[in-house]
Amino acid sequence: MLYFTLNNGIQMPVIGFGTWDVRGAEGEKILLDALDVGYRLVDTAKMYDNEKIVGNAICRCGINRNELFITTKLHTPYASYKKAKAGIEESLNNLQSDWIDLMLVHEPYEQGIEMYEAMTEAYREGKIRAIGVSNLNEKRFEDFIRKCEVIPMVNQVESHVYYPELELKKKLEFHGTIMQGWAPFTEGRRNIFAEPILMKIGESHGKTSGQVALRYLLQNGIGVIPKSSKKERMRENMEVFDFSLTDEEMKQIKKLNEGKSLFGWY
Ligand SMILES: NC(=O)c1ccc[n+]([C@@H]2O[C@H](COP(=O)([O-])OP(=O)(O)OC[C@H]3O[C@@H](n4cnc5c(N)ncnc54)[C@H](OP(=O)(O)O)[C@@H]3O)[C@@H](O)[C@H]2O)c1
Repeated sequence: MLYFTLNNGIQMPVIGFGTWDVRGAEGEKILLDALDVGYRLVDTAKMYDNEKIVGNAICRCGINRNELFITTKLHTPYASYKKAKAGIEESLNNLQSDWIDLMLVHEPYEQGIEMYEAMTEAYREGKIRAIGVSNLNEKRFEDFIRKCEVIPMVNQVESHVYYPELELKKKLEFHGTIMQGWAPFTEGRRNIFAEPILMKIGESHGKTSGQVALRYLLQNGIGVIPKSSKKERMRENMEVFDFSLTDEEMKQIKKLNEGKSLFGWY
């Protein structure tokens, strides 16, 4: 496993397992499969309503808790200092863990800074090992860091070959913040798996277009958290460290950038 070193020295795997829409007993089995395949970072959120099954999987998987990296996020129902404090305790209970590896403010909220203050306190108390934000564009991020005491260790944003956000990545890097990309396969909004240029490049490396899409982000220094409910695909998505894209291939893939979000949330 390769790791990023966050700005407080904590190691975070460069690839993780996304858990949007992973729920119930079936979801718990999916999580156990992902951990069995080798994922060590699990990306959950209160919004996904699955922290409890993530906690169950952590307990059942037989892997030392120290080897796992669990991310969770606070959203609107926790949008105040007091509510965020309660949300942190709730996450610790749900995850059946003495600590959270990374907690993010899920989106831009008016109360984002006070939520972050509550997270900063828990960080100082050792309940959270790293803190960060999600879905902040450059302007919002710059504004945020002017007001907070601890520079976010991570900003998790939409990032895939059609909208990699390479400029944002550079700006974040300047501040010592790691960019982690969500929806590396566009959550099905584009058929990335049939994208001709990715297929062609993949063929020359004996890789799939999905693997090329992930490798492109990783080679740009962006973390990835693909989700799959199928064990074979989970494995395929992890097998992205035994080949490299050439400069020419990176340039060709860069041309897919449409410079526009496929989600348009913000
Ligand atoms: N911070 C935020 O606001 C935010 C927003 C969105 C997502 N996220 C996080 O990012 C994670 C990843 O994003 P996502 O789940 O939305 O979308 P995604 O990872 O881009 O795409 C998941 C889809 O791709 C399919 N898939 C996965 N691997 C495949 C493969 N090798 N071949 C063919 N199909 C494959 C999956 O189907 P199967 O399951 O059938 O394999 C699923 O339908 C989420 O799970 C969540 O943890 C965060």
